[in-house]
Amino acid sequence: MDEMLAAIPVPAMAIDRQERIVASNGEARTLIGQGLEGRNYVTILRQPGLIDTIEAVLRDRQPRMSHYLSNDGVEDTNYQVTVRVVPGLQTIVLCFLDVTHLEQAGQMRRDFVANVSHELRTPLTALMGFIETLRGPAREDAAARDRFLDIMEGEAGRMNRLVGDLLSLSRVEQDQRVRPKDTVNLTDILSSVLRTLGPMAKEAGVTVEQEFPEAPVKLVGDQDQLMQVFTNLVENALKYGASGKKLTVKMTVMERDPALRAAGVRVQVIDYGPGIDDVHLPRLTERFYRADSHRSRALGGTGLGLAIVKHIINRHRGRLRVESELGQGAEFTVTLPLRQIGG
Ligand SMILES: Nc1ncnc2c1ncn2[C@@H]1O[C@H](COP(=O)(O)OP(=O)(O)OP(=O)(O)O)[C@@H](O)[C@H]1O
Ligand SMILES: [Mg+2]
Repeated sequence: MDEMLAAIPVPAMAIDRQERIVASNGEARTLIGQGLEGRNYVTILRQPGLIDTIEAVLRDRQPRMSHYLSNDGVEDTNYQVTVRVVPGLQTIVLCFLDVTHLEQAGQMRRDFVANVSHELRTPLTALMGFIETLRGPAREDAAARDRFLDIMEGEAGRMNRLVGDLLSLSRVEQDQRVRPKDTVNLTDILSSVLRTLGPMAKEAGVTVEQEFPEAPVKLVGDQDQLMQVFTNLVENALKYGASGKKLTVKMTVMERDPALRAAGVRVQVIDYGPGIDDVHLPRLTERFYRADSHRSRALGGTGLGLAIVKHIINRHRGRLRVESELGQGAEFTVTLPLRQIGG
């Protein structure tokens, strides 16, 4: 029995008619503890749901499923436990399947749907409210009508951006594993992003400094996606860091980048605004995460920008690093490999 259980790749143990553990594999001993053999399962497993299930299977010999929760002091691990009789032997076998990731994925999906609904509901509620007002009290009031239509346009625009960002996120996730294959000119991409956002910088009163190497930098990448990355980073710097009055975009070619352990190009987008508190840094690239949600919403942000950035950089096998100190501005560093490594 011990040898049979040793061949099972997940924690497994056998319990006899006398309610004693008669065999276990190494995985089970790592999970539950040493010295299991000969002990009564009730004193070892100690979780009522599982104990009831085993009792029932011992009674009527019908296979069942149960759960086991373990905690290593840091995090919970959820196991689905199958409890089945070995026909012919007076023994039942328990197998513990780790379903933590499945449950986390399910939770993430539920959170995502809840977030999307919430983000859409706010502008929708506003739109419905204004439609109501335009039908009723403001029917004959031309000035109010114009004002309301402006707000409605803004709200509809927000929903439009949100749906656009969601689509682009799902597209990026879809081709995450497909390596880009075109050669693109990063110098041109950055110049074009800065040209497009020039008017926004001007309006925000921000001077843009650019430090690029003399020779154009070329790499294998996806033109549109890289435009999207730097557009969002520069846009963020202008939206959230405008009070610093200055924005630096710096590109450096590294013969050997320590993070990539290969030749790379590093692009830094540096602003001198209010910065981002430490507590937010690790979560910044999560979908819908905003450091200052009030401000971000007021500025029309969807909170999806950096999530998209992160996915695109992953697809390019690059790195994203964010450094910031409150009051000292923020620095977003993108490192991309100059030559494609691997497939
Ligand atoms: N340069 C910056 N300075 C201060 N805070 C920043 C900066 N860049 C990003 N943030 C914070 O990070 C959050 C997430 O940024 P992200 O680009 O993902 O979303 P967004 O700008 O709110 O929306 P979107 O980019 O979809 O329009 C922002 O809401 C903002 O709070
Ligand atoms: Mg953004």
